[in-house]
Amino acid sequence: MSTYRIALYAGDGIGPEVIDQAVRVLEAACRRHGCTLELVEHPWGYAYYQQHGRLVPEDYLEQLRGFDAILLGAVGWPPGLPDHLTLAPLVRLRQAFDQYACVRPARLLPGLRCVLADKEPRHIDLVVVRENSEGEYVDVGGRLRPGREDELAVQTALHTRQGVERILGFAFELARSRRGRLTMVTKSNAQRFAYRLWDEALLRLAPEYPQVQADRQHADAAVMNLVRMPEYFDVIVASNLFGDILTDLAGLLAGGLGLAPSANLNPQRKFPSMFEPVHGSAPDIAGKGIANPTAAILSSAMMLDWLGQAQAAADIRSAVERTLAAGHRTPDLGGTLGTRAFTDCVLELL
Ligand code: NAD
Ligand code: IPM
Ligand code: MN
Repeated sequence: MSTYRIALYAGDGIGPEVIDQAVRVLEAACRRHGCTLELVEHPWGYAYYQQHGRLVPEDYLEQLRGFDAILLGAVGWPPGLPDHLTLAPLVRLRQAFDQYACVRPARLLPGLRCVLADKEPRHIDLVVVRENSEGEYVDVGGRLRPGREDELAVQTALHTRQGVERILGFAFELARSRRGRLTMVTKSNAQRFAYRLWDEALLRLAPEYPQVQADRQHADAAVMNLVRMPEYFDVIVASNLFGDILTDLAGLLAGGLGLAPSANLNPQRKFPSMFEPVHGSAPDIAGKGIANPTAAILSSAMMLDWLGQAQAAADIRSAVERTLAAGHRTPDLGGTLGTRAFTDCVLELL
């Protein structure tokens, strides 16, 4: 019987609320498929900060390193601490564990209404592959003359040929396994150093994937096209920041942020990969018991896939789809079910 060691990092706000429910579903799916989970909670974040004066223990990366995977809720508690502090451990974790492939599928499930008129499930089925280890998220820069009128800030993005090629390769492979279309999103008409490195890498790699039709769009056109004709897109590959922005939009097109899962993968499996909803800690609804747990549940299905438990993962996805198709809804989707009651429906169908 397979046993997996999973680190739970539920975080702040609705993070713990949705992770609790995802764990119920995970455990039920694993029971059915004869695998065992050893779950270890890491109660880090703002509450931890209030007790210990820091958001995570100094050796938090060491503590996480030995796990098979990490399941994260969300971090950030703006009423207590500024975001650039609370989010730093998360960004550092993605980079330290070289989780360079951030995979964010956006599929409109049957029964859900799209915010766009006339768009149905067959129109919205795409995956954003976000470069997750460098780009605009490296912590390089500084501020000069703080507080003075002539104060200045410099923030540098960093794109390496190796980093760009490996994420493009990952996205090409994914596109080949899907509908065979890859769209690279940059802004090389204005940012002529970094994103032309991307353009050139795309040209170099494309001949290796004759089954894939690759094209590129500038980010401004891409957001417009995502709204105008979402059905055009299959796999989108983008830098760290563009990928972040595109995945909130993609999540909305697929029914809302409460549904959007993601995986931060280290494809070489040298480090644990991490699975988390695209959404944040939602302070506006935290503590009310109404958060939609679907994004966290589908993220845990992505985790099971990654661990080699494809059937358990498929069962979870199917149970979620049937729950939504049956009309069960949390308030973000116009329903009245709380986080736990919605999960009860998923469990019943599982
Ligand atoms: P958010 O994603 O937390 O919330 C945006 C809106 O979507 C809110 O109205 C919220 O109520 C709603 N929403 C989000 N998830 C939902 C769910 N599961 N069910 C129902 N409604 C949901 O974004 P924000 O408000 O901009 O950020 C809040 C905090 O989270 C900030 O500190 C931000 O930096 C942080 N954040 C963290 C992550 C992460 O941990 N990966 C991601 C995004 C934002
Ligand atoms: C996300 C979030 C994070 C990001 C924040 C919390 C740093 O928005 O996971 O999409 O920008 O990567
Ligand atoms: Mn984001």
